Amino acid sequence: MERVRVCLVGAGRAGLVHGRNLVRLPEAQLVAVVDEEGAARDRACAELGARGFRSLEEALERAAVDAVCVATPTFAHRDAVVLAADAGKHVFCEKPLALTLTQAQEMLQATRRAGVVLQVGFMRRFDPEFRAARECVASGELGRLVFVRSITRGPGLPPRWAWDPAKGIGLLAEVCSHDFDTLRWLSGSEFRSVFARVAVRKATEAAVEQPGFYDVALVTAELEDGTLGSVEGACPVDYGYDARLEVLGTEGMLAVGSVGPGTYTQVTRDGRVVQHTFRSWRDRFQEAYRAEMWHFLQCVREGRTPEVTGLDGLRALEAALAAVESARSGQPQLVGRGGGEP
Ligand SMILES: NC(=O)c1ccc[n+]([C@@H]2O[C@H](COP(=O)([O-])OP(=O)(O)OC[C@H]3O[C@@H](n4cnc5c(N)ncnc54)[C@H](O)[C@@H]3O)[C@@H](O)[C@H]2O)c1
Repeated sequence: MERVRVCLVGAGRAGLVHGRNLVRLPEAQLVAVVDEEGAARDRACAELGARGFRSLEEALERAAVDAVCVATPTFAHRDAVVLAADAGKHVFCEKPLALTLTQAQEMLQATRRAGVVLQVGFMRRFDPEFRAARECVASGELGRLVFVRSITRGPGLPPRWAWDPAKGIGLLAEVCSHDFDTLRWLSGSEFRSVFARVAVRKATEAAVEQPGFYDVALVTAELEDGTLGSVEGACPVDYGYDARLEVLGTEGMLAVGSVGPGTYTQVTRDGRVVQHTFRSWRDRFQEAYRAEMWHFLQCVREGRTPEVTGLDGLRALEAALAAVESARSGQPQLVGRGGGEP
């Protein structure tokens, strides 16, 4: 396959990041953009130079497509992935994989049945610093893992659909699924249990408008190999995008991430030190988003299994859903195995 012909479904915040990478990567050809909202579709088509369609069905009927990049809201992931797989198309799907474990299993089954690639959008696995952390842990240099702490804070409120528990799973999955994946990926171990607390501390108006909305989450986790972990998420924090990781081992520690994007430092007349923050996840993980898409294209071209599989998406979803249940019940939750084994 010369260039992978890709159809992008969902041209919102994440979709545009992927669309822009796809038009720049020589291994890809963005042939179609699907968005059910006309204005978003027209804007994306004008910028990316692709044909626009109202539905994925229509795009697959009328355009020659090898792969589908799913960046719709979470509630629409399952239908798009199953439709694409049933049509024999390779799939890249944003995280969290789905709203429920049943949906996630259906997605895994459909892609396995079709023998197509399914990669999930855990782009941190392609960030050079997160990769260096994983290599350090895997080399044994840190000794036995003691504790992994993963923090994600976003500047703004999530899109409106994500406030609604029927359409998204809330911060614990929409944001923290990255952190749950990082804990699994770094430790090489599965989740045993989680205990979660959520609260509304800042976005009080959103919580009034949407019952069930929360803007901060704290999770303690135990992995099967005995590693302890914590996941902390907060949105909005206004000051910038802040993703950090700390790993403590028996032989040392490592840390990834800082609030500032570079070495810019300004000292004011009154002695205050000013540094710039990352404004968005788009800036912090710019290189990682490009690298994950490049990896997906290589896997499609070479028929390889991606580094981030549907099963990884399902396992992170299991942890996130167990954390949601823990926050609801006030009790620790065992993280069950929802199937999905190859
Ligand atoms: N990997 C990351 O860092 C990251 C960052 C942001 C969002 N995301 C994920 O990406 C997904 C999209 O989030 P977003 O913030 O871009 O949302 P968004 O609301 O900005 O964009 C979603 C777009 O999909 C369109 N859409 C809705 N239903 C559709 C359907 N059935 N078919 C076609 N188009 C449809 C909407 O009109 C909208 O333009 C979510 O799953 C989210 O969790 C991932």
